[in-house]
Amino acid sequence: MKPLIVANWKANPSSLAEARRLFDFIQKGTRGARGVEIAVCPPFTYLSSFDTRASNLKLGAQDCFWAGGAFTGETSPEMLKNLGVEYVIVGHSERRRYLGETAGMVDKKLKAALKSGLKPILCVSDSSQLKGVKKEIIVAFEPLSAIGTGRPYSVEKAEKIREKISCPFVLYGGSVDSKNAAGYISQAGFQGLLIGGSSLDSKEFIEIVKAIC
Ligand code: PGA
Repeated sequence: MKPLIVANWKANPSSLAEARRLFDFIQKGTRGARGVEIAVCPPFTYLSSFDTRASNLKLGAQDCFWAGGAFTGETSPEMLKNLGVEYVIVGHSERRRYLGETAGMVDKKLKAALKSGLKPILCVSDSSQLKGVKKEIIVAFEPLSAIGTGRPYSVEKAEKIREKISCPFVLYGGSVDSKNAAGYISQAGFQGLLIGGSSLDSKEFIEIVKAIC
């Protein structure tokens, strides 16, 4: 499997016009990058604006609920699937922290995502959160101290963590930029990257992709 580079835009940008511009820049700048799979995860409100059928980019969502029906404000995995979404981030630390997502909720979301044919990316900040998780799930290891802080784990430290995770497909996330990106894959043994801040800067994101190819 190719390395997977995931752009997590979080609650950015603030207009559809900007989102379209960012998406188009990334699409043009990474068109020749056949050696990697790239998934862009915009906010829900923009997902239906991107038709990725003829694109090198895949679509991902930043979250999903575990069902459809009487759940005000939520988005079901089926809705995402029917929109052409392929990946879904589940259990991001910001959701666990600010929205009170528990391990039980994350597990339900994971199961529902799998059932509807989405590829979940389970975010964990320590290996205890991997208890009982099926081996085929894509995992993103994101140390809390590295997320959005500009203080990434060193490649050596990340490598030690990677060695302890038995899942075959694990992404590193946390202050990834074009200078440190390649080391997490070629040296530390990760299978891809989950990128927040640097994915909002199209030039920087394209440089990251180039560094991996
Ligand atoms: P960051 O975010 O790249 O801005 O550190 C990563 C994430 O939260 O997924």
